[in-house]
Amino acid sequence: MLIAGNWKMFKGPREAEAFVSAFQPPSGVDVVVCPPYASLAAAVAAGLSVYAQNVHWEREGAFTGEVSAEMLLELGVRGAIVGHSERRQHFGETDETAARRAARALEAGLAVIACVGETEDERERGETEDVLARQVSVLPNGERIVVAYEPVWAIGTGKTATPDVAAEAHAFVKTLLDRPVLYGGSVKPENAEDLLAQPDVDGALVGGASLDVDSFSAICRTAASIRS
Ligand code: 13P
Repeated sequence: MLIAGNWKMFKGPREAEAFVSAFQPPSGVDVVVCPPYASLAAAVAAGLSVYAQNVHWEREGAFTGEVSAEMLLELGVRGAIVGHSERRQHFGETDETAARRAARALEAGLAVIACVGETEDERERGETEDVLARQVSVLPNGERIVVAYEPVWAIGTGKTATPDVAAEAHAFVKTLLDRPVLYGGSVKPENAEDLLAQPDVDGALVGGASLDVDSFSAICRTAASIRS
């Protein structure tokens, strides 16, 4: 079971350091935090397992605003998120670029959390499985990649997928890529148990609730109690 906190564009180095110093990961669950680039070094120094929120597919070059796997590894970062829906919606990320990022990160020795998920319109039109198939089929396989099923309509909206909806999507993703699948989208201490108890839910990618030490700790303790 893996619980990952995606801090998005929150917490500069001082706040990151304060969070990691105050946070005690419970045993029986793998926990990582994903701070913004500017706070990666502070979070690594404070002693937690740290992933970045993105990674580029080249080692170096004229790619303003991008960061390579080698640079992350040099900082002590152990993995990266790729293909988050906010990157797809606001920054032109595509299935192909997400897949290139994932392949290069794995090759360099980083772990990868590859995000997939349908929009509300796509779900209403009955296209969920087509969208997931398109997004997952291009991803590389490997021991260090996990998928995060994050239905776009559940991100930051307070509308969580029901455990049944999540379980169905997770089972479908696993028919395409036989790797662990995290659920993401309005995970909170109050709904974590129902979601994480589903057999194909192998952890969570937590946004808003990962910014607060108490709520992130509560979610991590719930995960530890379910599968340990
Ligand atoms: P929220 O938990 O804030 O809905 O965000 C989910 C997410 O996008 C994690 O990557």
